[in-house]
Amino acid sequence: MSPQHLLRWYLEAGVDETIGEVPVDRYAQSRAPAAAPRPEPRAERIAPPPSAPPSAVPEARSGASQLAAAATTLEALRAAMEAFDGCALKKTCQRTVFADGNPEARLMLIGEAPGADEDRQGLPFVGVSGQLLDRMLASIGLDRNDVYITNVVPWRPPGNRKPEPAEIALCLPFIQRHIALVDPALLLFLGGAPANALLARVEGITRLRGRWMDYHAGGLPRPVPAMATFHPAYLLRTPIHKRESWQDFRAVRKRLESLG
Ligand code: URA
Repeated sequence: MSPQHLLRWYLEAGVDETIGEVPVDRYAQSRAPAAAPRPEPRAERIAPPPSAPPSAVPEARSGASQLAAAATTLEALRAAMEAFDGCALKKTCQRTVFADGNPEARLMLIGEAPGADEDRQGLPFVGVSGQLLDRMLASIGLDRNDVYITNVVPWRPPGNRKPEPAEIALCLPFIQRHIALVDPALLLFLGGAPANALLARVEGITRLRGRWMDYHAGGLPRPVPAMATFHPAYLLRTPIHKRESWQDFRAVRKRLESLG
């Protein structure tokens, strides 16, 4: 493996800080007699993390809000998100995953965060869970031209971990603006993370799914009817819940039809 590949592998696994120049045998240290503690050699000292000071977090949040509010088109929002450097996830991901599908569609789908395939291709839901999502859409007669798809967090968390609540909070102004600019007739949240973040609810997805709720936000002329359903990745792991998801998708289809 070349050094570049090794570094990329480390970054994808979430290793984004150097904490020492030489390996440290902590077991040997704990076996050593406790009597005469030696100062640690310089090279073994853990370097302070290069992360931003605490005051930078609210600053980044207000930076995100200002950038999002200033974007008056989807292209301007995409450019603002690509230029934003207040989220640490941007250091480890390859690209901003903005959206896919038809921005004129009446149905907007919102997932959690990109995975490795999405990060490589720059499009949401293109991996295995995306393939399941496409089949679920097809089951109600829709494809990607009939919907608009994005995520709450547009940058891949390293190692495909779940985004932290602070990362979701930081990205919230962007997704709120994104929804306002698309102005969909209906919203479908894929998984608990988007539902919790955008509906400000704390219940788990099992309680939230399958019910129509109102999404309210500044910039929208009216509340948008929103439903949450299981995330396709969860369905791949727990296929027994596909039946409930199928019911949710049918309810969405019915509501679309009622819109005329
Ligand atoms: N999971 C998500 O939530 N979003 C994607 O884009 C891919 C997988």
